[in-house]
Amino acid sequence: MTEQADLHADAEVGGSNHGFDPAARLAERRDRNLDRDLQPADRVAARTRMAPDPRGTRPDYGDERLVFAANNYLGLAQDDRVVRAAQQAARSVGTGAGASRLVTGDTGLHRALERDIAVAKGTERALLFSSGYAANVGTITALDPDVIFSDELNHASIIDGCRLSGAETVVYDHCDPNSLAEEMAARNISGEADEQCDANVQRDADESWLVVTDSVFSMDGDVAPLAEICDVAERFGAWVMVDEAHATGLYDGGGIVQRDGLADRIEVQMGTLSKALASQGGYIAGSEPLVEHVVNAARSFVFSTGLAPPAVGAAREALRIAREGDRREQLWDNVEYLRDGLTSLGYDVLGETQILPVLVGSRDDAVALADRIRDCGIVAPAIRPPTVPEGTSRIRVAPMATHTTAELDRCLDAFEIAGQERGLL
Ligand SMILES: Cc1ncc(COP(=O)(O)O)c(C=O)c1O
Repeated sequence: MTEQADLHADAEVGGSNHGFDPAARLAERRDRNLDRDLQPADRVAARTRMAPDPRGTRPDYGDERLVFAANNYLGLAQDDRVVRAAQQAARSVGTGAGASRLVTGDTGLHRALERDIAVAKGTERALLFSSGYAANVGTITALDPDVIFSDELNHASIIDGCRLSGAETVVYDHCDPNSLAEEMAARNISGEADEQCDANVQRDADESWLVVTDSVFSMDGDVAPLAEICDVAERFGAWVMVDEAHATGLYDGGGIVQRDGLADRIEVQMGTLSKALASQGGYIAGSEPLVEHVVNAARSFVFSTGLAPPAVGAAREALRIAREGDRREQLWDNVEYLRDGLTSLGYDVLGETQILPVLVGSRDDAVALADRIRDCGIVAPAIRPPTVPEGTSRIRVAPMATHTTAELDRCLDAFEIAGQERGLL
């Protein structure tokens, strides 16, 4: 045994956690119903076999289930063309980037996908990160704003970016441009909103203000009013950053920014390769100076290995298919079919996107419903507080382009059985 291993063994035998007690922290989390379990699946597709969390041992997969819980919206994660592109990238470029992009990990393949994303997003340039999380945290900190205005339901990676940046962060009401305008006016010392100004908070002429919002919100399936948000931001001289994680590849070959024709009003478009593009990684898209600044200043870019070439190759092919193929139409057909079916059963389905949050109400009903549909072979998670407000627990249903009509019907049957048994219908 090495000297170091010896020390670890002594610490365990001695039983001292030196202030760290993971078991106690876990128990406390369980007491508050906040613990989570992993759930191994044997493949990423519309049908998969799943297992209960085996902790450190081998998963024991059960029967095949239909997955209505993934963000693999276009069902491309096992598409032959995408798989071949990943294999080709591994063979011709390598399985890993081998170093940070700023050292030797900057390959022609990375550059090719960045050009494709810039075209899809209508910007001068794009930049890849090793995840969407890294893209948000790295970009927000690199922008180093004085004040950030953030939608109250923004994704955790945006919240962490705000925290890490050290900026004053002002949270405005969800998808509410009026609330955004009020918050901005309260910090403004000049212009039309003077009378609402808080004398203690004065805006310096060269203070930098950033508005940041998801475009599609993953738990509510709704869409930020981006044009109105841009109107407000422009009035107050703020920049706008939009997270298109759940929209990339699904709207006009780009995201909501493309659908709404706003590319020239939004300074930073951000997104992931990990959802509709069936891969891994994140990106930002914007002006040449912005991207060049982020290359230099985003620590999650500078101090992290470049995105693995197979992920780049897969995402590039998935983006091509998303833009040119008919997968998007298939997805939207399935979304409409399922939304209509669930609504006809008597469920309240929120949102206006491919994410169908089925409102249930109480935490217990949502968990019971999710368990029962699971018995019927359908996987769709119960989303409960604190992820969503008390009394708005829901089942998040996310169909894929590759679900057949028979599979959508099985999902509807399961919701009917479960809802009736629970007295919800
Ligand atoms: C809105 C949003 N932003 C960012 C992320 C992070 O992306 P990634 O999973 O690629 O790290 C996610 C996904 O979990 C997300 O839903």
